[in-house]
Amino acid sequence: MTDRFRLLVIAMTLLVAGATGFAVWSATSRAPQTTGSGTALVGGAFELTDQSGNRVTDDDFRGKLMLVYFGYTFCPDVCPTELLNVGQAMDLLGDDGADVVPLFITVDPERDTVELMADYVPSFHDRMIGLTGTPEEIAQVAKAYRVYFARVEPTEEGDPYLVDHSSLVYLMDRDGTYKQHFSFGTAPEKIAEAVRAAL
Ligand code: NI
Repeated sequence: MTDRFRLLVIAMTLLVAGATGFAVWSATSRAPQTTGSGTALVGGAFELTDQSGNRVTDDDFRGKLMLVYFGYTFCPDVCPTELLNVGQAMDLLGDDGADVVPLFITVDPERDTVELMADYVPSFHDRMIGLTGTPEEIAQVAKAYRVYFARVEPTEEGDPYLVDHSSLVYLMDRDGTYKQHFSFGTAPEKIAEAVRAAL
């Protein structure tokens, strides 16, 4: 009786351990990549126009790391905050940042002309590149980066429209593949540290 009970306890323990192990394994293997590195299919080819009016493609940045942020110049607070963080991260990298290209891609191509981008991006970093394009080109690159954006009509007639958009900073590797992303409000120190580790 005692032996049988002991066997039962051992069997139950093994069963529980096994089930727990499986639950942990399945949770970690199924969990979506919300932060950190991974092989998520983010990024891809694009062809856009920079703030000098030059046509550029993702190929032009091969061999460098890209810090990619999507937003729009009329954004009242989210974009300026995040672009300041990216600019500060670039400052913290100093000379090490020579191999890093900060890109700001607009999700509001109708208003964000080449001229507006030329006025806007240098206030965040002198090496930041602002990219605009046709609505089709912007839709394509946003899709590649899995960026959500949607125009929001103003409640007051005559007010400018807003654009709802996801706000992540993507770190892309020298070959253009996704390395990791930073959620909104990540400290410039954290971004700089991760970029430096990826150099
Ligand atoms: Ni914004």
